[in-house]
Amino acid sequence: MSILEQLEELKTQAVTELDAIDDPKQLDLWRVQYMGKKSRLNEVLRGLAALSIEEKKTVGATANQLKLELESALKEKELSLGEKVISAKGEDAIDISLPGRKPPLGQLHPISQVIDEMCKIFVSMGFQAVEGPEVEWDYYNFDMLNIPKEHPARDNMQTLWVDYENEKGERPMLLRTHTSPMQVRVMEKIKPPLRIVVPGKVYRYEAIDATHIPMFTQIEGLAVDKGITLADLKGTLYEFARRYFGSDRKARFRCDFFPFVEPGVEMSIECIVCKGAGCRLCSNSGWLEILGAGMVHPRVLEGVGIDSTVYSGFAFGMGIERIPMLRYGIDDIRLFYGGDLRFLRQF
Ligand code: DAH
Repeated sequence: MSILEQLEELKTQAVTELDAIDDPKQLDLWRVQYMGKKSRLNEVLRGLAALSIEEKKTVGATANQLKLELESALKEKELSLGEKVISAKGEDAIDISLPGRKPPLGQLHPISQVIDEMCKIFVSMGFQAVEGPEVEWDYYNFDMLNIPKEHPARDNMQTLWVDYENEKGERPMLLRTHTSPMQVRVMEKIKPPLRIVVPGKVYRYEAIDATHIPMFTQIEGLAVDKGITLADLKGTLYEFARRYFGSDRKARFRCDFFPFVEPGVEMSIECIVCKGAGCRLCSNSGWLEILGAGMVHPRVLEGVGIDSTVYSGFAFGMGIERIPMLRYGIDDIRLFYGGDLRFLRQF
């Protein structure tokens, strides 16, 4: 048999066999047999060099043509079997009932959740929630809150100053150390009666440990109107404590000093762990301090042009991280900002 006849026979055999295949697993065997390294076709192709020029032309052309035909026949077969695989209901079918992969679902950070919950309580009492800048002027953070330049009360707040110098050589820009400057910003713009709460981040130059971090969150409150008294302050904050901590939790007020209020108070709630009996969390006092508050100082009101003989107001400021820490017994404030999902997902 001549090489050309052999190739002709090979073609008939290969095509007949390919036609008969109905299991995709057999396609590879067929490919190895008819087109693989040791196949007769490959043998012919490799042997071309030894042939005469005349033979090379005819045999080479036929063999290459056959190779192309077999390749395209195989492709076609693969496609038709592939379709069969997808549509068949038998053993080989792709199992389309497999559940898909769920994309991970995010959630609000625990501190954002507490802020939302607190704002809702105050909004239901007629307060409006507003936000202010985290980069602040000395003027709002201290001066206008009755904390003048040389006053020792400034030393209480370990301030992070921004590296900016004005034409007088002063460095009046800082990261706000509390949310209280928003009292002044709001009163400059809105005339009383007004009632606002201001949640947001504050910054202090602190050494980091289980209870101190340089960035944390506060919520500020301010109410100004004619005839507001300390009784309004107490009523509002008692109601907040009742709603947030539960109606059986006792709260108390004691005198405290803040330059921008007169009189000033601090509010404590009965210890969450020992319910007043005394334990490690409350240093055996039975109470946990949660906020500072007071009646807005007349100087603060006059500073923004509000007549302090006509209007009065109360203000309060509360650290937010401490609240869920007390509620859930979290003993390290750094957990909130460590980015560990095992911690965050619990809320
Ligand atoms: N700004 C104070 C602080 O960060 C907290 C505070 C105390 C806010 C008394 C007030 C207030 O509005 O009346 O320590």
